[in-house]
Order: sequence, then C-alpha cells, then structure tokens
Amino acid sequence: MTRVLSGIKPTGHLTLGNYLGALRRWVEVDQHRSEALFCIVDLHALTVDHDPARVRRLTRRAATLLLAAGLDPERCTVFVQSHVDEHTRLSYLLECVATDGEMRRMIQYKEKAARERQRGRSVRLSLLTYPVLMAADILAYGADEVPVGDDQTQHVELARDLAVRFNQRYGHTFVVPRATRPKVAARVMNLQEPTSKMGKSDDSGPGIVHLLDEPETVRKKIMRAVTDSGRDVVHDREKRPGITNLLEILAACTGGDPKELCGAYASYGALKKDTAEAVVEVLKPLQARHRELCADPSYVDAVLRAGAERARRTARPTVDAAYRAIGLLPA
Ligand code: TRP
Repeated sequence: MTRVLSGIKPTGHLTLGNYLGALRRWVEVDQHRSEALFCIVDLHALTVDHDPARVRRLTRRAATLLLAAGLDPERCTVFVQSHVDEHTRLSYLLECVATDGEMRRMIQYKEKAARERQRGRSVRLSLLTYPVLMAADILAYGADEVPVGDDQTQHVELARDLAVRFNQRYGHTFVVPRATRPKVAARVMNLQEPTSKMGKSDDSGPGIVHLLDEPETVRKKIMRAVTDSGRDVVHDREKRPGITNLLEILAACTGGDPKELCGAYASYGALKKDTAEAVVEVLKPLQARHRELCADPSYVDAVLRAGAERARRTARPTVDAAYRAIGLLPA
C-alpha cells in the first residue's frame, strides 16, 4: 500500500485555507486509500523566534483539530514530531549527506532569513538546516507520497536528492519520495489580499478565517472581503482575484463548480452571503467535535501517545539501517 506522510507546523491557528487546501483531503481520501501518517512538526516551529507556551498550546490545538476534522486514529497515525526521536537521529546523518550550498539555495530559507534580519533578529542555524529535518521526517517513514503545497515542493525535491545520494553512496536504504500536489478543493486566498494565500502564521488578520472562529466572526470576515472593481460575478484569477476567491471557497464548501456558480449571482453581496453561510455550515460539525475533544483532553493525549508509539515502530528499522550503512558501530 502507498505510504503517505504530511506535516503541519504549529506556528499559528489553523485556517480555512489549511482545511480546504489540505486537511480535508487527508480526511476524505488519504487516510482511506493509503497507509497515512500525519505529523505535527513542532520542532520546525522552533526555527524562528518563538514563545514556548504558545508552541505547546498550538501543538495540542493542532492535534485536536486534526481529530475534530475527521482523521481517525484507527485509520491513520497522528503524532507529534518531537515525541519520536528518530527524526532528529536521522536528521544528523542527512546533514552529512547534504551540502551547505544546497541549504543556502532554498527559497524559503532566503525569504525567512531576510525577514528575520529585517526585524533585527539573528537567524537561527536551525532555519538553515530545517529542510534536512523535513527530509528526515519523510525518509524515516519510507513515505512514497508527500502531499504538500507549492511552497514545499523544493523541500521535497531535496528529500529526494538526499535519498538518492545516500542510497548511491551507502547502499539502498531509503524509499525515494515524491511530492504530490493534491487536487485541492480550493486554493484559498487571504480575504483582504486575494493574491496571497490564506496562511496560518499571521494570526489576527481580518482576511483569515480560523477553523474555530465563531459563526458571527466568519460572516463578518467574509462580508468584508475585498472584491474587485466591476459588478458582475466572473471567475478570473488574474483580473478578479477577490470574487474568484469567494467562488472557489463557496464551490469547495458546497461541492459545486466555481465557474458554473458565477451564473447564479447577480451581485457581490449575494455571493458573499452564500459563501459565509456555506463556510459556517462546513465548520459547524468540526467545531462541535472540537468542543467534545476539549472536554476530554486525556483522549487526545492517548491518541498522541499511541500515534508516537506506532510512528516510532515504523521509523526505527529504517533509521537503524541508515546508522549501520553510513558506518556507525552498532550499539
Ligand atoms: N515544511 C512544511 C511546512 O512548512 C511542514 C513539514 C515539515 C512537512 N515536515 C514535513 C510537510 C514533512 C510534509 C512532510 O508546511
């Protein structure tokens, strides 16, 4: 069976973009058709200036939301990266295969490092080595497929390169993974800035719908979404990014086709209203389940404990094999 692994970084509250763009597919497709592992990659949240209490809180919240969204611990493995030592054990070996030049060429590194410097902060070394740890996340589990957004394909490419190089030098050890660009229900863009994606790290933005936003807040944010000049409802990402974003969100929530939906709307107002209600409806069961899970934190703890146990059992033989292959004396 195909093995699928993906990760989500606890650096902000999960958004509608995370749900419609990734999580929903994990729930509806991946956990059913493959052996799937989903990891809350908390170590990656430490690569830029961070608040310890917040990382801890967001990690727990992300885990709870993954379950609330419908990941079923009977069908897939949900775990926290730092609970499984194999990630950092393997990361060091991969640092001995990766080169300094490769790391410095990573687009995300260049962007994030520039941002840290701009803010007068020093750049953590872990920001540079982050893609190696991500490669370890993937290779430790022998994942065949890694569903990620566009911004992560370069990192998955690196994981491939490192797997091939390691295998060539030290003998076949790793499965060579490939990035899959999930056919997402929607590429959800920021409601206030519809040319950039609805990311999760920017916390209080009025253009970002969080999965736990109250219905009134959701409605307000969507009703205030920026639209484009013009009055007719047309689907055109270039010329009408605002309206197109709303059409995409509505279609994703109702199972329709964004291009066909245009015909049904004579005004922006009506489209916004329906979109707001559709989002509220999609979030309702997830929020109800989240409340239930919060009432019983020991359940979430138990799921994460069992998940880490299973993940460890899966990763351990591969990482041990890598230790032997690279020349380390067995303990
Ligand atoms: N780097 C990814 C992101 O920022 C998160 C991530 C870490 C990941 N390890 C992974 C994704 C392994 C897929 C597989 O979104």
